Amino acid sequence: MWIFAYLNYQVPRTRKEIFETLVKGLQRLEYRGYDSAAYSAPWQHLCHELSTHFGLAHTRWATHGEPSALNSHPHRSDKDNEFVVIHNGIITNYKELKKYLNTKGYEFESETDTEVIPKLIKYVYDNRESDNISFSTLVERVIQQLEGAFALVFKSRHFPGEAVATRRGSPLLIGVRSKYELSTEHIPIQYNSGKNSHNRPDCTNTLNFVGDGKAVEYYFASDASAIIEHTNKVLYMEDDDIAVVAGGKLSIHRMNRQAGEDPVRAIQTLQMELQQIMKGNFESFMQKEIFEQPESVVNTMRGRICFDTNTVVLGGLKDHLKEIKRCRRLIMIGCGTSFHAAVATRQILEELTELPVMVELASDFLDRNTPVFRDDVCFFISQSGETADTLMALRYCKERGALTVGITNTVGSSISRETDCGVHINAGPEIGVASTKAYTSQFVALIMFGLMMSEDRISLQKRRLDIIASLKVLPELIKKVLSLDENIKDIADELYQQRSLLVMGRGFNYATCLEGALKIKEITYMHSEGILAGELKHGPLALIDKDMPVIMIIMRDACYKKCQNALQQVTARSGRPIILCCQNDADITKNAYKTIELPQIVDCLQGILSVIPLQLLSLHLAVLRGYDVDCPRNLAKSVTVE
Ligand code: AGP
Repeated sequence: MWIFAYLNYQVPRTRKEIFETLVKGLQRLEYRGYDSAAYSAPWQHLCHELSTHFGLAHTRWATHGEPSALNSHPHRSDKDNEFVVIHNGIITNYKELKKYLNTKGYEFESETDTEVIPKLIKYVYDNRESDNISFSTLVERVIQQLEGAFALVFKSRHFPGEAVATRRGSPLLIGVRSKYELSTEHIPIQYNSGKNSHNRPDCTNTLNFVGDGKAVEYYFASDASAIIEHTNKVLYMEDDDIAVVAGGKLSIHRMNRQAGEDPVRAIQTLQMELQQIMKGNFESFMQKEIFEQPESVVNTMRGRICFDTNTVVLGGLKDHLKEIKRCRRLIMIGCGTSFHAAVATRQILEELTELPVMVELASDFLDRNTPVFRDDVCFFISQSGETADTLMALRYCKERGALTVGITNTVGSSISRETDCGVHINAGPEIGVASTKAYTSQFVALIMFGLMMSEDRISLQKRRLDIIASLKVLPELIKKVLSLDENIKDIADELYQQRSLLVMGRGFNYATCLEGALKIKEITYMHSEGILAGELKHGPLALIDKDMPVIMIIMRDACYKKCQNALQQVTARSGRPIILCCQNDADITKNAYKTIELPQIVDCLQGILSVIPLQLLSLHLAVLRGYDVDCPRNLAKSVTVE
């Protein structure tokens, strides 16, 4: 779920304009992926007060209670809307809070966890020690009682012209727009501890504009895509920041000052263009993003690989390289597709870094309380940079003193800000819930890391040069794979009514099987499983017969012979495999029901070429089955709850 709020000061806007701003922002957030089936028309909360106009909106993704108008945000303290709140995240101690508030006579109207928040703030307000209490102090007191993850925007009838926003664990940014120039690019943090903490915040440390300009608009959003049409000036809030807009001025404060904490929030200029988050001539964002891959991998490599000198420099890692080379092991952590990027590159990273490489699903890594040491280097791979499990794993590793490295696609995201160093994959905004171009760019970024680590290893030079030469031709080869789209569509025509689809391979292509199967189940709702071909006779072979659709990946690499054995086992049970293989491989073609012939590239990059037909296949299957490929049911683009 996502939140979006708009507030302006002295900018004449009609109700209709505010409403449209909110709806458009929500639509863009919606593209960022939330469950369209669970969508109920958001309650837009609009109010016009003196010279301020304000609107709140929320996309609904059900964590508590069915999708319905009553369970939609904003939630309110009471029938008179004394306090209203929108929330992205999850309140894990809501049952205890609800029980307590029930004993105080508060009646709840929804089934959500969120509703405890407006009730709690009203309770704190009704029991205030002084009439001089500020809105932000009330919010501070409320969030001290909350457990879980949240981004919140509050509005109250008791504080006209004011809005308060805060976050912990869920993303929140503030967009600023004014025709006047900003007086500063940094907002100093105010610290509220001490005896005066109930007073209104000091207005001297606020965001001001040069000249007489007072007219200003503020946008609070979970993601920059909601606001980019209006402004590219944003500041990212940190956990426990409290932002107050009052009288058209923005201030940010915190309860206490921690050692080493940044005392300012910088206003950044986003490079994202509205154009980048539009569909253009494509039928869906997913299709657009699959076809963008020849360019997105170039953008990942741009300025980092020099093909003339065969050198690779990742600016975000170069100062930490010595420390990384001395480490005990590399641990690569992610969820879903991002985890598959780790699986895909594990073998080549072991080879190029000569270090042990562990790959971990963030949720499982945390469940196991995995031992982590000061001399470990932990990679956090995430397209959004906001995935809750990955973020928690990052904090877990930081607490244990490991060096943390982010591999993300989102500048300013929590993971990119909280890691010690990292690489932005620069794939451009990925809107479709099914991750495609981010996967291939994560793959390329991790390979570049391996190349950088092995630059001074004489024994690895030939291998490095082969990989660098292959990276150079990669975009052209991706284009060739994309030109197979019509053949893949024909295969989809044959398969789309099936219930199940197995994807088998091994070695460098095992990750392709996992990733292909994830794409298929995610957007087609068919059962699909990625199977390690080496495991075939340990169980999955029992599934094979003439009716079970099987896709096999058999490329000319070190596992070729072993994959041929697996193929024989499948055909001996009357299986009719569709095989992804190298061009002109007669041995394979003669045993295949159908083939998709791919250009060959160095073994460790083959997975980039072999995943694309599976991305396309899942897209065609989903379209033929009549589903919305960009917004699959029950899924969100960025999973900001555990
Ligand atoms: C992929 O198609 C998925 N939608 C999902 O598995 C995703 O990769 C996962 O939720 C992790 O997201 P992140 O890369 O933004 O951390």
